[in-house]
Amino acid sequence: MTDEIFMRRCFDLARLGSGSVSPNPMVGAVLVHDGRVIGEGWHQRYGEPHAEVRCLASVSKADQLLISQSTLYVSLEPCCFHGKTPACTDLILREQIPKVVIASLDETPEVAGKGVKILRQSGVEVVSGVCGSQPNLPSDVRNVFVSQKRPFIQLKFAKSIDGYMGKAGRQVWFSNHYSQVLAHKGRGAFDAILIGTNTALTDDPSLTTRHWFGKSPLRIVLDRRRILPGSLKLFDNSAPALVVTERRLPSDKPSGTLQFVELDFDDGLLVNLMDYLFEHQVSSIIVEGGADTISRFLEINIWDEAAIFTTPLRLGKGILAPTPLGKQVMSYQLGSDNLTILSNEHQGR
Ligand SMILES: NC(=O)c1ccc[n+]([C@@H]2O[C@H](COP(=O)([O-])OP(=O)(O)OC[C@H]3O[C@@H](n4cnc5c(N)ncnc54)[C@H](OP(=O)(O)O)[C@@H]3O)[C@@H](O)[C@H]2O)c1
Ligand SMILES: [Zn+2]
Repeated sequence: MTDEIFMRRCFDLARLGSGSVSPNPMVGAVLVHDGRVIGEGWHQRYGEPHAEVRCLASVSKADQLLISQSTLYVSLEPCCFHGKTPACTDLILREQIPKVVIASLDETPEVAGKGVKILRQSGVEVVSGVCGSQPNLPSDVRNVFVSQKRPFIQLKFAKSIDGYMGKAGRQVWFSNHYSQVLAHKGRGAFDAILIGTNTALTDDPSLTTRHWFGKSPLRIVLDRRRILPGSLKLFDNSAPALVVTERRLPSDKPSGTLQFVELDFDDGLLVNLMDYLFEHQVSSIIVEGGADTISRFLEINIWDEAAIFTTPLRLGKGILAPTPLGKQVMSYQLGSDNLTILSNEHQGR
């Protein structure tokens, strides 16, 4: 039980790195001596020190002698290779930490259990899997990215209580202010947002995080025939945008905030797009609609979670909302709206 409490603290710390560590994992660490926390840290920014390093650096002078008698809790298996920073397994051995508790293994090919093996071979007691089967682990994004070689995919939409997602050709406001703020906070945690052509035309969304702080993700729009006008908010240069098309127009000049990628729309478009995003280090993406675009992800079954806002609005008719089949991992009220998170336990590729 105490292991779980310290691990949940690691998860909370890990999430403080949301939006700034990608494509590295969010990781939190806590150092505990005799039931007392003597150090805490998290991976704060891509390329900067790992959670374990920050945790040990936070130990006060008075407690430093206790490090070699303490237990290190880490939300993800410690790394064992020198990448942008030195291996955390070396640090743990150097500091003679006798016990390490982790939630999940790091599926990065260079690690994948080797971190645990190195520690055990050197006599460190390693307990693995503490809270590891909980939904929404901070390491989920990274582990999907490195093991499936595609971004972690969240399907997100709002629907009326009678199951509609919109009306063709006109914008309908569904969610209340709480849901909007939460949706914007969620956007900041992802690297990219994708929408379909009709949504871009009908809703003209900004796809920024203006109701929350933090960076706005890369805005991606599908535009097979290059029909979207340059006046859309997506193209206002306030955040980067990527147009996925079959054929660029002669006037389509890439700039610092606008890029184009040409892909075949009739042959594995979404898989090829995910490959492209993987190559460009985009480790997570929200698919924000519309119904057609989300349904195509469902058809080929590449998605990891669905965030569904259900609002009290009754539309009577319109565009039917998709019905992702997943395991419910969370459900809560946001004033009059409900947010349910489903996890896809049988992803495909
Ligand atoms: N309630 C919500 O959360 C929410 C969110 C977003 C949008 N909406 C509403 O949803 C409506 C738009 O939804 P929608 O279902 O009509 O359209 P949509 O998903 O926005 O766009 C569909 C179009 O995008 C292109 N496309 C998408 N995926 C593709 C794929 N895998 N391969 C090839 N082309 C692909 C196709 O364009 P082409 O036909 O040109 O090839 C397709 O017709 C709007 O009314 C909007 O207000 C609601
Ligand atoms: Zn590390």
